[in-house]
Amino acid sequence: MTLLVTGGAGFIGANFVLDWIAAVGEPVVNLDKLTYAGNLANLASLAKDARHVFVQGDINDRALVAGLLAKHRPRAVVHLAAESHVDRSIHGPADFIATNVVGTFSLLEEARAHWTALAEPDKAAFRFLHVSTDEVYGSLGPHDPAFSETTPYAPNSPYSASKAGSDHLVRAYHHTYGLPTLITNCSNNYGPYQFPEKLIPLMIVNALAGKPLPVYGDGQNVRDWLYVGDHCTAIRAALQRGRPGEVYNIGGAAEMKNIDLVRTLCATLDSLRPCAAGSYADLIAFVKDRPGHDRRYAIDARKIRSELGWAPAESFVSGLRKTVQWYLDHGDWIAGVQSGEYRKWIDLNYGNRESQIANR
Ligand code: NAD
Ligand code: TYD
Repeated sequence: MTLLVTGGAGFIGANFVLDWIAAVGEPVVNLDKLTYAGNLANLASLAKDARHVFVQGDINDRALVAGLLAKHRPRAVVHLAAESHVDRSIHGPADFIATNVVGTFSLLEEARAHWTALAEPDKAAFRFLHVSTDEVYGSLGPHDPAFSETTPYAPNSPYSASKAGSDHLVRAYHHTYGLPTLITNCSNNYGPYQFPEKLIPLMIVNALAGKPLPVYGDGQNVRDWLYVGDHCTAIRAALQRGRPGEVYNIGGAAEMKNIDLVRTLCATLDSLRPCAAGSYADLIAFVKDRPGHDRRYAIDARKIRSELGWAPAESFVSGLRKTVQWYLDHGDWIAGVQSGEYRKWIDLNYGNRESQIANR
């Protein structure tokens, strides 16, 4: 009984592998290319654990994937490998197409070949679980109902369009070939090991360094936040109890405007690591907006709650406090990811976003 996990050295993937080995104990083969977002330090606690086999490689390397499937005979593929940052997709979409669309296609082809040759009961028990995002559904108005599994797709960024393309391929492989797939569409995650290019860790890292906290546009964009540990338990539930061919939306019913989130984050930091100069909120700076910035995301998670009995364990307040404490306790990890490549990205993305009105 083995899982093949892709992207298991990234933020959600590493949390998933750690959670899976702790909670279920089954071995994991972890295929990850180790892009800028992949980090073996996330998996340091498994360094001597025989249940974790790490393989550095690309999901587009079909011979490698075929070899791993033949050798380890996993009962499921949990596919998290992706290019995942909207701002990077705006600056350079090509990698998003190569990994998210073509990479998912490559993985599906190899999984299909492997699955077709399986004998029962292994064939019926096999699963291909594709981890996706709520961003495929596009942007909501302030009074629109939250995204459900039947909301039409309307992706707006190169990132969300590439994820939408991959979701469609997974759906087609179930419909056409009968591959036992599952798709999960989750809202914004936060928690330990998140690369400091995404909103919450970027704000924590900047605040601790006394740097401006760059809020895009008017700060009124809404995201629906979920603690990463709760995403991991939802993936586990979908893998263990989900019905092949189904889609499950995952979210924590924690909608928040970005500016309110950043202010709450600053208040949390003020209480856990007071700064002599006043409040961290003094560092908030409104900057030029992201092109095509989706206004609001919200997830209707009633299906996974009622069908699979999943519910998040953390509230936004408890999850945020845990997350801030984790970053405060892991200065070495933060220093380790702030490479030259990271500084180049910060210059590229923020260099020409002239600060507009401070502390709006
Ligand atoms: P991440 O960017 O932190 O990690 C992605 C991982 O994939 C990295 O370890 C990277 O090295 C690896 N990778 C990239 N290209 C690869 C390739 N060609 N072959 C093999 N490995 C490759 O991303 P994340 O935030 O952990 O997201 C994981 C998945 O969850 C993605 O599919 C993303 O779309 C989805 N998702 C993320 C969120 C979120 O809020 N972060 C929310 C919903 C869904
Ligand atoms: P992000 O973490 O990039 O996730 P996504 O774009 O996938 O939702 O951004 C979350 C929200 O925070 C989004 O509305 C953009 C905004 N944001 C900022 O205001 N400033 C920043 O520096 C970043 C990275 C994001």
